[in-house]
Amino acid sequence: MSIEQAIRARRSVRGLLGPPLDDGELRALVALALAAPAPHHTRPWRFVDVAPPRREPLATALGEVWRADMEADGVPRAQQVRALARSRRQLVSAPTLLLGCLVPDGLRRYPDEQRWRAEWGLAQQSFGAAVQNLLLAADGRGLGAFWISAPLYAQQAVRAALDLDAEWEPQALVALGRRDPGYTPFDRPEPDLGRHLVRR
Ligand SMILES: Cc1cc2nc3c(=O)[nH]c(=O)nc-3n(C[C@H](O)[C@H](O)[C@H](O)COP(=O)(O)O)c2cc1C
Repeated sequence: MSIEQAIRARRSVRGLLGPPLDDGELRALVALALAAPAPHHTRPWRFVDVAPPRREPLATALGEVWRADMEADGVPRAQQVRALARSRRQLVSAPTLLLGCLVPDGLRRYPDEQRWRAEWGLAQQSFGAAVQNLLLAADGRGLGAFWISAPLYAQQAVRAALDLDAEWEPQALVALGRRDPGYTPFDRPEPDLGRHLVRR
């Protein structure tokens, strides 16, 4: 498959079946994630393979934060219960669950908040590139995968649930497994270059 075909073919696959990825598959995917472009020749990322016994406590920690947010937003209770149950199911049933974190490795420390925020922004951009590498590589191997953004909203809770270093900033989970042949990805509209590409 050409690179262009691979990019077009990749989809978020939320219907996943076991078994978990074996160690070689997981290491190969993370190695490709680590080949992503990053600022100042750094690799400001950590990936955590979240073992099954950690999943329920992780789902509870994430769920408590999300439930409080939904409550404050006035989301009806029945809707909260459905959303939390779905999220817990996704975390617990993922054949492999990988947490991606940002770390300040090699980043420039500025005395002012504005430049430090920009520097952290660079690291976040590079994290997206790393995850895209991983998603593309998983797709290329015939695996299914999808991104779960919940950790970004509950960083302290995730750190505590997984005993992570205080400097690690949880960003996203990636669920990985074999593709459920019954899963159909959401519609993805054709690109609208008239709107998304402008010239000045
Ligand atoms: C930053 C980011 C956060 C996302 N968060 C979630 C998420 O929490 N749950 C989920 O099912 N998909 C999530 N996705 C996947 C998107 O929904 C998906 O990429 C988008 O709908 C396009 O579909 P495709 O990946 O099949 O092309 C996320 C993607 C990105 C880049």
